[in-house]
Amino acid sequence: MADWPNLHVSQHPAVRHKLAVLRDVNTEPKKFREVVRELSWLLGYEALADAHTRQLDIQTPIESMAAEELADRIGLIPILRAGLGMVDAMLELMPTAEVWHLGLFRDERTLRPVEYYNKLPDHSHVDLCLILDPMLATGGSATAAIEVLKRWGAIRIKLVNLIAAPEGVETVLTAHPDVEIYCAALDRQLNDKGYIMPGLGDAGDRQFGTGHSG
Ligand code: PRP
Ligand code: URA
Repeated sequence: MADWPNLHVSQHPAVRHKLAVLRDVNTEPKKFREVVRELSWLLGYEALADAHTRQLDIQTPIESMAAEELADRIGLIPILRAGLGMVDAMLELMPTAEVWHLGLFRDERTLRPVEYYNKLPDHSHVDLCLILDPMLATGGSATAAIEVLKRWGAIRIKLVNLIAAPEGVETVLTAHPDVEIYCAALDRQLNDKGYIMPGLGDAGDRQFGTGHSG
């Protein structure tokens, strides 16, 4: 995208197909979780395209060869709650990654993030941090997560979202132009309650079957 070189919106037809299922109001939580997982795998694949590898000597049934293995040490940071649904797929792609949970919720009145849980280790010892959160709306939660990671010592940070709003992209990349964003779709705008339009509604509620308490 011309304005935001660090924004990568997937162009893959399989991603677009799965997004339609995810967005559909009639998609039940079980199917919704399944598609969050599948989309996470596809976006993780794209986000890892520039990861480093190192040589690995192996023996095939035919002969020995110089193969490759992933060299980057990776930290996965799911933002609770909704980011939880993205973890398993990412671990399939990166089995040696560490998972550090970060709990943030958005105050519904102020739309500002509130941190309530932080399971980051004491010291930074990874090459790449992937923040996992299905939704990038105002960008408040993502910016807070990036700031936590940078204070902690993270150098290379990528944000993996399923759906992003232009407002959130602008906020994150203005404050942190070194961060890269990978998403399945860039939607139109936020509504007056801070929800993404057309979006998919509340990603946490749709995954976990909540949201009927009102
Ligand atoms: C959602 C979403 C992001 C945040 C995005 O979480 O998963 O973390 O909102 O909004 P923002 O860009 O305006 O900060 P929510 O606060 O609803 O918490 P939940 O995952 O526990 O439902
Ligand atoms: N959080 C969500 O889950 N959905 C939105 O549209 C915005 C924030």
